[in-house]
Amino acid sequence: MRFQQLMHVRRLASAAATTLMRRPTTGTTATTTMFPVTSHIATTVRTMAGSGAPIPELTQITDNVQRGNYATLTDKDVAHFEQLLGKNHVLTEDLEGYNICFLKRIRGNSKLVLKPANTAEVAAVLQYCNERRLAVVPQGGNTGLVGGSVPICDEIVLSLARLNKVISVDEVTGIAVVEAGCILENFDQKARDVGLTVPLDLGAKASCHIGGNVSTNAGGVRVVRYGNLHGSVLGVEAVLATGQVLDLMSNFKKDNTGYHMKHLFIGSEGTLGVVTKLSMLCPHSSRAVNVAFIGLNSFDDVLKTFVSAKRNLGEILSSCELIDERALNTALQQFKFLNSPISGYPFYMLIETSGSNGDHDEEKINQFIGDGMERGEIQDGTVTGDPGKVQEIWKIREMVPLGLIEKSFCFKYDISLPLRDFYNIVDVMRERCGPYATVVCGYGHLGDSNLHLNVSCEEFNDEIYKRVEPFVYEYTSKLKGSISAEHGIGFLKKDYLHYSKDPVAIGYMREMKRLLDPNGILNPYKVLN
Ligand code: FAD
Ligand code: MLT
Ligand code: ZN
Repeated sequence: MRFQQLMHVRRLASAAATTLMRRPTTGTTATTTMFPVTSHIATTVRTMAGSGAPIPELTQITDNVQRGNYATLTDKDVAHFEQLLGKNHVLTEDLEGYNICFLKRIRGNSKLVLKPANTAEVAAVLQYCNERRLAVVPQGGNTGLVGGSVPICDEIVLSLARLNKVISVDEVTGIAVVEAGCILENFDQKARDVGLTVPLDLGAKASCHIGGNVSTNAGGVRVVRYGNLHGSVLGVEAVLATGQVLDLMSNFKKDNTGYHMKHLFIGSEGTLGVVTKLSMLCPHSSRAVNVAFIGLNSFDDVLKTFVSAKRNLGEILSSCELIDERALNTALQQFKFLNSPISGYPFYMLIETSGSNGDHDEEKINQFIGDGMERGEIQDGTVTGDPGKVQEIWKIREMVPLGLIEKSFCFKYDISLPLRDFYNIVDVMRERCGPYATVVCGYGHLGDSNLHLNVSCEEFNDEIYKRVEPFVYEYTSKLKGSISAEHGIGFLKKDYLHYSKDPVAIGYMREMKRLLDPNGILNPYKVLN
């Protein structure tokens, strides 16, 4: 059965010239090989409620956090905010969803959520909080995975959800201007309406905000093609802790007028300012998207296939993701609507191409797969250009992180490692955790050397915790990797920052924090310890 399918892919590779005559030159490609059709795919992560783990204890207590020297909220403060924002936008009840992080690992005890509607209101809120010494945590979609988006003690939650407009999308320049609270998927839809696409895509796109993405310098599945947000974000508007509005907006790719301060707000996780608006360079949407989902027998074959993808797919390569068998199997077990086209391999790769000429791209990807099979590096797989099937394959990848937390607690690591050593840590960690863990697996953005090492267990388990940390960070540091490839430092990794940052650099980070937020009211207890 598999062999027949394998041959089918190979035949496609050599039949590319015929295909070229047959297929339209515009629109998405529609050829699919070897794919069992599934019909009920859950909508993206819009409805995701977070981890299936039980509600955690208050983090201030479990982690013995010394509350900073901040004022305590009074009725007078609440009345002031009600006057400023309107009663409906000042929440004092049912705050659980704002206090608990997505992974149900961190739980704060905020008594107040503020929902300003525009930059001026954000500025007025922060000016008041700074004068009163009230601590504040900026919050986007609360999909962050390092405990950065929720309070640790009783900080006020500043939700950006009402700053949700796409202000402009210019199809000529490709530049879009958007408010920080716009949901990534909505922003992308507006860009697509004029033939552009947001150069960022991640599994949480239906919930996360573009401002949250910028504040975490989110990576996702397109970095291999478009680079990270330091390149795509052309300008930002940020409100400082004092309430001062810093206008760093720019509508040009090239602007060398002095220090590039916008970069301070890309990835600083709400500790230096609140991002309220940004401009972003959006590439034109690709007319042809093809996805291959392939099975491989060893990590060595994975590396060879990656090199071959770069060499042979070149400019059309738009994603290169890895999933190991435990990660895939967990997702398949948890979500019966998922349907993997292949099974039984230790490693799977999802390789996507995006280009402007469907025939050309299809020929290239089929050739690449055919050659990989002939060399014995690729064992089996599916290639499709049918938009529905492309989505189904991506759904498998997107559901992997959710599978691991569906009914479990999960310790998640997000590390950059040299590719040759990329996967070893998964085996090492499995050995270290032994029977304490239910699943130890690895997946992630192979194309960017970014591994997601995940260790799941029935519930938070101190024994596993001690076995995994700080070992995982020491291991990463020895290989000169990064302890945070894309999720950030937040609360969970702040004590480990030194494993990836030089002490002199950390010293200057502290100075910058002091300069921009003299009273330390913005997202305390995060990033720096
Ligand atoms: P939040 O979680 O609300 O906040 C994150 C941090 O940014 C916090 O420190 C917060 O204080 C700060 N912040 C938020 N908005 C602002 C603002 N306007 N101004 C200043 N600070 C602000 N991440 C990746 O990088 N790549 C992935 O592929 C990826 N996939 C994911 C898949 C799933 C299923 C889930 C649940 C998460 C995933 N993430 C991924 C993590 C998360 O989605 C990203 O970190 C995302 O960028 C967070 O956006 P958010 O709006 O939810 O921000
Ligand atoms: C992903 O790539 O799926 C995300 O970064 C989330 C995760 O690490 O699980
Ligand atoms: Zn990721």
